[in-house]
Amino acid sequence: SRAIKIAPSILSADFANFGAECDAIEAQGADWVHVDVMDGHFVPNITFGPSTCAAIRKHIKGVMDVHLMIAPVDSYIDAFAQSGADVLTAHLEAGPHIHRTLQAIRAHGIKAGLALNPGTGLDAVGHLLDMVDLVCVMTVNPGFGGQKFINSQIAKVQSLRAMIGDRPIHIEIDGGVTTETAPLVAAAGADVLVAGSAVFKGGSVSAPQAYGDNIRAI
Ligand code: DX5
Ligand code: ZN
Repeated sequence: SRAIKIAPSILSADFANFGAECDAIEAQGADWVHVDVMDGHFVPNITFGPSTCAAIRKHIKGVMDVHLMIAPVDSYIDAFAQSGADVLTAHLEAGPHIHRTLQAIRAHGIKAGLALNPGTGLDAVGHLLDMVDLVCVMTVNPGFGGQKFINSQIAKVQSLRAMIGDRPIHIEIDGGVTTETAPLVAAAGADVLVAGSAVFKGGSVSAPQAYGDNIRAI
C-alpha cells in the first residue's frame, strides 16, 4: 500500500446514500473514510450525529475517521466512541479542556486526534504530543467542502513534523486537497490526506469507478 493514506470525506457524498458511497470508496481504494460532524455552533454548518456514524460504521471495513467540529465536545465523546470510530478527532479551539477531551477519547481504547484551525499556532501542541495519535492541520476554515487550500499552512506542517520527531503520530491534512496540493503537503511531512470534493466530483453512486480514478489521481 502507498505510504500516504487517502481519506475521502463523505461530506461531499450523497447524504441519502451513505452506505453505498462508503462501500464504493473503499472498494475503489480509500485507505480511511473521513466523517465530518458539524453542529452549527463551532462551525457554521450542520451535518449529523452519533446515530448516523453508527449506521455508516456498518459499511466501513477499514478505519472510520471521525472529525468532530462541535462545541462543547466532552459530553459527546462517549456517544461517538460507541458509534464505532477508530480515530476520534476534536478541535483545540472547541473548549478550555482539550487535554481532558483527549484523555476521554483514549479511555475508549481508540486513537485520539487533535485538530487545529488555520489561525491556531503550534504552541500548545507540544504539551499534548503524549496524548495524541494524530494531529489534523486544517488547510481551510472548517465548515464546508470545496474551499481553496490555504498555502500558509504548509510551513505549519513542516514545523509540526519536526516537533513530532520519531513519535508514531499521524499528520492529517483536511481541506482543499487536490492533485496540485497533495504533493506539497506530503513533501512537508503529512501522511493522511482528507479529500472531499476532489474525490466525489464527477462521481455518483451509480458510477463508483469515478471515485476510484480520483482517489488514484491524488
Ligand atoms: C471541512 C471538512 C473537510 C471537508 C474537506 O470542514 O472538515 O473534511 O470535507 O472538503 P474538501 O476536500 O472539498 O476541501
Ligand atoms: Zn474533516
